[in-house]
Amino acid sequence: MSLQDLIPVVNKLQDIVTTTQLADLDLPILAVVGSQSCGKSSVLENIVGKDFLPRGTGIVTRRPLVLQLINIKDDDSLIDDSFSGSYTSSEDEVNLEEYLRQRNGGGKKQNTEWGEFLHLPQKRFYDFHDIRGEIERETTRVAGENKGISRNPIHLKIYSTKVLNLTLVDLPGLTKIPIGDQPSDIEKQTRSLILEYISKPDTIILSVSPANVDLVNSESLKLARSVDPTGKRTIGVLSKLDLMDQGTNALDILKGNVYPLRLGFVGIVNRSQQDIAENKSLDDSLESERQFFQNHPAYRSIASKCGTRYLTQTLNKILMNHIRDRLPDIKARLNTLVGQTEQELASYGELPSNLSESKEVRGAFVLNLMTKFANSFINSIEGTSV
Ligand code: GDP
Ligand code: NA
Ligand code: MG
Repeated sequence: MSLQDLIPVVNKLQDIVTTTQLADLDLPILAVVGSQSCGKSSVLENIVGKDFLPRGTGIVTRRPLVLQLINIKDDDSLIDDSFSGSYTSSEDEVNLEEYLRQRNGGGKKQNTEWGEFLHLPQKRFYDFHDIRGEIERETTRVAGENKGISRNPIHLKIYSTKVLNLTLVDLPGLTKIPIGDQPSDIEKQTRSLILEYISKPDTIILSVSPANVDLVNSESLKLARSVDPTGKRTIGVLSKLDLMDQGTNALDILKGNVYPLRLGFVGIVNRSQQDIAENKSLDDSLESERQFFQNHPAYRSIASKCGTRYLTQTLNKILMNHIRDRLPDIKARLNTLVGQTEQELASYGELPSNLSESKEVRGAFVLNLMTKFANSFINSIEGTSV
């Protein structure tokens, strides 16, 4: 198994853990944190290269959205995603040049991109506007019509030839003041929900701060520091660089001279509200972003380390390295889980062939698959070249 395969394999494990609700394995994930309107959804859409997230004023993200990006080859569109205990393992690393070429519109076939929700397992969404609609429906279904939030996550997978393997979670934005009919403790609720994700040692914190607000006032950096005081698992994203006051720039921050984060800061420029109103495409937006950095007198010298493309590649590497570092620990936790599962299975006895029979039988079936999968996972990571 190659290093690039780690992320999809861990994703599959995540699905099984979520589906069975057996245990919380706390698998590695990137959590996007920031104040409301700082550009979190825009960053995510840029990373995916698609318009698919609900938007509007005020609090739009009201449930965590766990987003698994899965890179597929052109001929992979019939991926076998059953819990078979095995998975396709390719030895070739994702080719960054090919990735860039495709992001630039050089891809050949269409319809090699789709989304799938864990709560609608049989359905492929080829139209990304429908994905937005489904996220909105699912949000309202669980978190209600008003502005309340829910801790219960939505799980969405995006298969595409144009994405790099990444697992991200979009979280409700940090708010100070309740709006509309939000509960008075909305700030406390949001904080505790974000903390639930970012306090886990297996979470990489993607802390978004708008460049047109002084960094010392960044709520997301404050929150990140409270759980990661040495800044070893926080990456800073500085959005809205195009909106800074004339004559000022963020070069010192981007060079790491202002705020210490081991993973550094990446500057980005997303679409403005006007761009969105004028239906500017994400491809055009990526191109203007590239030009912004290349033509900017302050950023020209570091242009290759700025922007959405660089951010995406960096996140992919960070996540892979992080998973690799945590493998011994994940393996130990899996071993414990397998032991428990086997005991539980033994108590069910033989499995009848009619799986829909009862809850217990279905549970046993899933447990059985999970044990097999966990064992094959452990075996395969033994052989991972790291
Ligand atoms: P979220 O609430 O953190 O998810 O923020 P959104 O991504 O929804 O963005 C909020 C608003 O800020 C939208 O109108 C975006 O168009 C705008 N915006 C986000 N990032 C940038 C940026 O880098 N530059 C400009 N000019 N506008 C941005
Ligand atoms: Na922020
Ligand atoms: Mg948002």
